[in-house]
Amino acid sequence: MKNILVVGGTGFVGQAILSELTRRMTFAATVPTRRREHNKALTVLPRVKIVEADVHDSSALSRLMPGHDAVINLVGILHSREGTPYGADFARAHVELTQKIVDAAQSVGIQRIVHVSALKASHEAPSAYLRSKAAGEATVQASGLAWTIFRPSVIFGEGDAFLNLFARLAKIAPFFPLAGAKARFQPVWVKDVAASIVESLLCEESIGKTFDLCGPKIYTLAELVHYASATAGHPRLVFALPDWLAWCQAWLMEWLPNPPMTRDNLRSMQEDSICADCPGLPFSQTATPLEAVAPHYLKQGSQ
Ligand SMILES: NC(=O)c1ccc[n+]([C@@H]2O[C@H](COP(=O)([O-])OP(=O)(O)OC[C@H]3O[C@@H](n4cnc5c(N)ncnc54)[C@H](OP(=O)(O)O)[C@@H]3O)[C@@H](O)[C@H]2O)c1
Repeated sequence: MKNILVVGGTGFVGQAILSELTRRMTFAATVPTRRREHNKALTVLPRVKIVEADVHDSSALSRLMPGHDAVINLVGILHSREGTPYGADFARAHVELTQKIVDAAQSVGIQRIVHVSALKASHEAPSAYLRSKAAGEATVQASGLAWTIFRPSVIFGEGDAFLNLFARLAKIAPFFPLAGAKARFQPVWVKDVAASIVESLLCEESIGKTFDLCGPKIYTLAELVHYASATAGHPRLVFALPDWLAWCQAWLMEWLPNPPMTRDNLRSMQEDSICADCPGLPFSQTATPLEAVAPHYLKQGSQ
């Protein structure tokens, strides 16, 4: 039995990883969360322990580590206040926390770490999000641990925050004035992402490697929004906002408590989130098409 500490394991990708770990029978997992009462549904999973902990507290992290064979780090955020080269919240969640996880793992002799970053993360990227993700990757690569990094394009699946958002908006919006309409994505299914990550724990050859994760097909954002709204039963006209209006829209949305779009998100979309040289997934998996999965949950969500 391998014991895995899954930091950020209560989220969208984390839940798919827990299902995959559970399905394979040979794993047990510990999942720290800031709010255990929000994640009661996960406590019924076999061999999964949900514990309330502040993972930013190094001593709490060190107490979590003993008894585990590997750590998976899934913590990621999309929005940040300004304040550092990456934004204060990006620095805390993507760089400082990653360093704390690495240090805590080393302190108890855990050798193996799997880290989830984002496709097109780079120190030269136009967005603070992608620069902070690159800094997180660099921290893991410099750790001396046996690391594997995954860099997914946008991830779809039941409960996603992407297609579901547009499907929900289509219920109330008569049309979509869309920022970043021409940005291109290669959406990858959450279960394919989870299977790749879990497989890497069993595969020595994945150590020291970085894998980009993409689905089988490239779409523009406009195509995805149109697809989500039509599949949810509310087909909507999608039209591209000119850049200046897109920036104004994003700036205004930044005042919302949970903004659907920020200026930094727009900067992220200046680079296509597609796997140019890498068609699909590692470990000989076949990437699942969006059209094979999304209708099931988009139709349900629209009722
Ligand atoms: N979803 C995508 O389309 C996508 C695409 C590319 C890359 N990624 C990357 O994949 C990883 C997983 O994404 P996801 O969609 O599963 O994210 P998610 O659903 O937002 O889950 C992330 C989890 O991390 C924890 N978390 C969030 N902010 C935190 C903070 N500031 N400090 C400590 N813990 C925090 C939360 O756990 P608690 O609230 O329980 O503490 C949350 O459940 C992230 O690194 C993300 O950047 C995702």
